[in-house]
Amino acid sequence: MVDLLLGLQWGDEGKGKIVDVLTKDYDIIARFQGGPNAGHTLEFDGIKHVLHTIPSGIFHKNAINIVGNGVVIDPVIFKKELDNLDKFNIDIVSKLLISRKAHLILPTHRLLDAASEAAKGKAKIGSTLKGIGPTYMDKTGRNGMRVGDLEFGNWKKKYRALADKHEAMIGFYNVDVQYNLAELETEFFDAVETLKKLSFIDSEEYIFKAQANGQKILAEGAQGSLLDIDFGTYPYVTSSNTTAAGACTGLGVPPNKIEKVYGIFKAYTTRVGSGPFPTELFDQDGETMGRVGNEFGATTGRPRRCGWLDLVALKYAVQINGVTDLMMMKSDVLSGFDKLKVCTAYQYKGETIQHLPYNIESKNVTPVYTELKGWAADLTKMTKAEDLPKALNDYIAFLEQELQVPIKIVSVGPDRLQTIRR
Ligand code: GDP
Ligand code: IMO
Ligand code: MG
Repeated sequence: MVDLLLGLQWGDEGKGKIVDVLTKDYDIIARFQGGPNAGHTLEFDGIKHVLHTIPSGIFHKNAINIVGNGVVIDPVIFKKELDNLDKFNIDIVSKLLISRKAHLILPTHRLLDAASEAAKGKAKIGSTLKGIGPTYMDKTGRNGMRVGDLEFGNWKKKYRALADKHEAMIGFYNVDVQYNLAELETEFFDAVETLKKLSFIDSEEYIFKAQANGQKILAEGAQGSLLDIDFGTYPYVTSSNTTAAGACTGLGVPPNKIEKVYGIFKAYTTRVGSGPFPTELFDQDGETMGRVGNEFGATTGRPRRCGWLDLVALKYAVQINGVTDLMMMKSDVLSGFDKLKVCTAYQYKGETIQHLPYNIESKNVTPVYTELKGWAADLTKMTKAEDLPKALNDYIAFLEQELQVPIKIVSVGPDRLQTIRR
């Protein structure tokens, strides 16, 4: 049995927190796409942890964590993540398994990312510059290096040929990218040795057997549905399928084995990086969301753009993913607003529409809002659904009515314990 957990917006919905909360009910937690562009935050016992490649179930003794074939791994960042976990006494070698088919991010992939962004100028994607795009390009171009290659003696030859090609490509961009490849390579080779201490597996086979043995698997998504390479706000997207189908290709799970699809969303909207964002706010309300919600990227530290909840986009994400259970995050951040706005349609070329137009650009899409009453109560100490204020229950009821999917979890703070089930 496989359940899926995905972000429904532009990432940073709070996936890490909820995976950590749910892990006790699963035997395996598996990442299926993306790479260290992700920053998944978990908080418990007064400590905040940020994970980039390692699945968010790693702090629980009961679960095995798998980095699946659809993920791209930067050994350098991976090593830093492992170092951060050192003091927590986790048996990493038996608890963290890596797919041989996962692709490797080379130092030159990161440089190519920087060169590509610099060449785009104002039209840049706002990439996290972790080398994600160039690594997936090599994967689909059938030139990539995979984790399994590291088990063969000649992998450095393969590495050299690919890195040399990348250097020539950097020259092609004709932009000023400063680097010292020898230094980057020393760091990379050292990190590869650390990676090689872990267990490499044929993850599809492992997951298949686990299913046959009745184990429960939770697939952990990265990024968000609107950053999906096919269904997101292209070209301002990431380079993987962040939506439900990505779990099938990124782990080798057949579609008919997927049961629950947990869709995570913030009670408002954020986006980091460039690209359209119809409900973005440039006023005091947006500033308040950013400040109270502490909206800074967990990977790059960049301020996140903030705006009202966009139900047109959310409905689209619910449909594409087949969401069965919704989870609303950061509800506490909206405490204190007199009125809350929810976008229920767009004005586009003189018409009112209820879908994402192909040519979605903030300048040609004007949100149509429904206003709801706000609440003043501090939610952060509440633990039961009965405690929630009426205006919040009305907000939830409105969303459930519009989306036709139940909201099963209301999150009222970053800590594991600040999680209300309904
Ligand atoms: P992810 O990428 O989806 O895992 O989300 P991030 O970790 O990038 O961003 C979510 C941020 O919100 C983190 O700093 C979390 O600690 C924090 N967070 C998660 N849930 C809540 C919540 O209900 N309330 C508040 N105030 N913060 C939350
Ligand atoms: P998590 O898993 C938010 C955004 C970047 C940029 C675009 C492309 O923490 O939710 P990339 O580095 O993939 O080439 O960047 O996607 N982006 C994210 N935004 N959360 C993420 O991950 C993101 N991963 C990538 O800001 O706009
Ligand atoms: Mg994040």
